Amino acid sequence: MVVACEPDVVGYALAARSVDPALGWILSVAVEGSFRKRGIGRALVVETLRRCASRGMTRVRCTVAPGNLASERIWHALGFVEVAFDPAYFGAGEARHVLELSLGEVG
Ligand SMILES: CC(C)(COP(=O)(O)OP(=O)(O)OC[C@H]1O[C@@H](n2cnc3c(N)ncnc32)[C@H](O)[C@@H]1OP(=O)(O)O)[C@@H](O)C(=O)NCCC(=O)NCCS
Repeated sequence: MVVACEPDVVGYALAARSVDPALGWILSVAVEGSFRKRGIGRALVVETLRRCASRGMTRVRCTVAPGNLASERIWHALGFVEVAFDPAYFGAGEARHVLELSLGEVG
């Protein structure tokens, strides 16, 4: 899903269903720098969750790097909780919190 300010894409969210058909993953969310702090990132996540729910997913996971405050605010405000922490999720020095939301609990 993308947010466009024609002719440019200013934000996107990428999600996919996992091997477990009830579990979705938000793989990436990003908003172009000059468009940040306007609610676009949160709106992208909320719409992605709605689409996951409409496709029968009951849980959604994502990862967040320690210290990514903007991202953390979105996940925690929506009710995501930490289910794991891996200090080398993407390799040495690339720690990630793994967060999960049970759909129906979207804040
Ligand atoms: C994370 C990201 C998508 C947020 O996009 P955004 O459009 O700025 O997000 P929003 O405007 O919806 O803001 C969400 C919350 O984060 C807060 N926030 C935004 N930027 C922030 C910053 N730099 N530091 C702290 N808080 C920040 C906002 O105030 C808002 O909080 P609130 O809901 O309590 O008011 C954007 O910063 C980005 O693209 N970052 C780089 C890619 C990335 O880290 N993606 C996430 C990977 S998990």
